[in-house]
Amino acid sequence: MAEPATTAGPIVKWVGGKTNLLPALLARAPAKYGRYFEPFAGGAALFFAIAPERAVLGDINRDLIATYAAVKADPEPVITRLRRHADAHSAEHYYRVRDRWNTGRATWSRPAAAAAFVYLNKAGFNGLFRVNRHGLFNVPFGRNAKTSICKPLVLRAAHAAFANAAFRAGDYRTTLDDAERDDFVYIDSPHVPRSKTANFTAYSADSFGADAQRELADVARQLVRRGVQVVLSNADTPFVRDLYKGFAMDRVSCRRAINSDTTKRGDVDELIIVGKPGSRRSTDDAYLR
Ligand SMILES: C[S@@+](CC[C@H](N)C(=O)[O-])C[C@H]1O[C@@H](n2cnc3c(N)ncnc32)[C@H](O)[C@@H]1O
Repeated sequence: MAEPATTAGPIVKWVGGKTNLLPALLARAPAKYGRYFEPFAGGAALFFAIAPERAVLGDINRDLIATYAAVKADPEPVITRLRRHADAHSAEHYYRVRDRWNTGRATWSRPAAAAAFVYLNKAGFNGLFRVNRHGLFNVPFGRNAKTSICKPLVLRAAHAAFANAAFRAGDYRTTLDDAERDDFVYIDSPHVPRSKTANFTAYSADSFGADAQRELADVARQLVRRGVQVVLSNADTPFVRDLYKGFAMDRVSCRRAINSDTTKRGDVDELIIVGKPGSRRSTDDAYLR
């Protein structure tokens, strides 16, 4: 059956993906801005929804950014290889690709590494990207349908959207060094844990703990001071509300699709935080004066 026509959207399933929060985020995006920055891009759901004229996408996950670069360069060799993975799809194939990817991807062609990354993401459990202490990708097989693996139209639409995007593999602070007055930055960092028993998320070998959250809030304030328009999303907890005192904030309910514990799926409250340069609320904050 032919794939239905599609508008651009994420090419990977990503933990913390923001597809469900899009209407609330779009409503808070500035009407006019210079470049769009997404320094914790992940699946980059808001980038695809906004379709900015100029964008900078960054993530600490180098394999994700290398995949985006391969799709930007040419989606066809990625699609050809992903089709082969879809045809061979089985638990056995998944574990073979996972082993080879862990040990040999540095020597692979760019489209081969990108196709394997998308395959492991689509065929692995819940779209997780999890590595062990040694940096080896260790997500188990996900029992996903073969048809969900290769989506040529989605990859081609992403290729078109990426024509206006530059990529940065690395820490968000480096990506944001370039942000200037009137640019728009959307910050969707790993979230603060919602309960005392939940752990701070570890996406990559590096985790994003309480000190990292404090530093991020400082960076957000500096951006607003520099005239950059900032929107952030995080868990709605007293810690986050305190970190962003002086910013405008609203609680928004959104469905959480990906959680390895199915009892924890369902609606969760998310805090959307907005820092507008020169707005009363942000200049009221003593930190900004
Ligand atoms: C909540 S997810 C972003 C989800 C994204 N908004 C979406 O729509 O899929 C957070 C992302 O931050 C990345 N990350 C974690 N620490 C980072 C850091 N220090 N600098 C840049 N990216 C980081 C993770 O690899 C992950 O992709």
